Amino acid sequence: MKNYPLFLFLLSTITITTCNAQNNTKKTPNLKDTFKKDFYIGAAINQSQIEEKNPAENALIVSQFSSITAENIMKSMFTHPQKDKYDFGLTDKFVAFGQKNNMFIHGHTLIWHSQLAHWMTEIKDSTEMKNVMKEHITTIVSRYKGKIGSWDVVNEAVNDDGTVRKSVFSNLLGENFLAYAFEFASKADPKADLYYNDYSMTNPAKRETVIRLVKGIQAKGIKIDGIGMQGHWQLNSPTIDEIEKSILAYSSLGVKVAITELDVSALPSPWEMKGAEISQRFENSPKMNPYPNGLPDSVQVQLAKRYEDIFKLFLKHKDKISRVTFWGINDGQSWLNDFPIKGRTNYPLLFDRELKPKKAFYSVIETAQDKQSFKKKLKN
Ligand code: XIL
Repeated sequence: MKNYPLFLFLLSTITITTCNAQNNTKKTPNLKDTFKKDFYIGAAINQSQIEEKNPAENALIVSQFSSITAENIMKSMFTHPQKDKYDFGLTDKFVAFGQKNNMFIHGHTLIWHSQLAHWMTEIKDSTEMKNVMKEHITTIVSRYKGKIGSWDVVNEAVNDDGTVRKSVFSNLLGENFLAYAFEFASKADPKADLYYNDYSMTNPAKRETVIRLVKGIQAKGIKIDGIGMQGHWQLNSPTIDEIEKSILAYSSLGVKVAITELDVSALPSPWEMKGAEISQRFENSPKMNPYPNGLPDSVQVQLAKRYEDIFKLFLKHKDKISRVTFWGINDGQSWLNDFPIKGRTNYPLLFDRELKPKKAFYSVIETAQDKQSFKKKLKN
């Protein structure tokens, strides 16, 4: 039979597919090995996942991801609830979880206006604010020196119109609060990678200001190693072209680019401006929550294509990208079920509510598959 090798190849493909269907967990490819040579594949994990409460979720996290970020427990309202009181119970567990599983551990976040320790909002004096920032950053970063590989030192300091956001930090210290934060962090752990992180990072006005601020930090001789683009995106926005422009613009500053909080909402967006300002909320309605009982296949396919395009771009620029982190593990626990409208059913991640890989998962995996090896198989 002339086409015997081709026949064998097709047969093996059919067999693998059938086995996959029967024994999903065993045969499912994994993201972390698939992209091993390219960038870390991370996930934000919640308290229950840090504490390994659900064995199936735990198995998925450990088998699929090479990096972790804490979704909430490392924010100042939890780590530093009172001026003289830190709470490291959960952050210690989070770091131990990452170490046990040989993961790259990312710290989120040191200075942020949201989920901020309430007592910090009451500071009225600039010297006191500087001292508080120094003490806060030094205490936390030193505790995990050599264990946490990178930090979001400052999160979301810029508005969508390109102005610097008013916050207790900028009100008292002006733009200088950024340079102070990076300086304190680099002294506490000179080897950790230090990032500025924000949403809507493809927006030109915001991009311009972020670039100006980063250049300002660099001009002072203060270490900044990376820029985090959160990646809370929609099915059609931002365009691949806009994302690419931003990756190139940020990396031209000589810093790494990380995609830090990737999720793609499958639902209509209630506001023109696309973002992730967590204080914004809108009314729920059937129109805004069109798929309460499951995502139609046509949208599933659209989501898979969107993820495919996004990952093809990431691979094209893998030399500039250090890490791609998903904001959650599965659709059921994504924050996008409650943001910016409470109580919707969203489908933004690669694993569904039963922890099964979605079409989007396979389309992401396929972007990295070496087409040459298939060609070789056909030839032999
Ligand atoms: C979100 C969490 O996912 C939610 O559980 C929480 O209620 C609000 O914060 N930008 C960030 C993240 O930097 O910390 C936010 O996480 C999402 C937007």
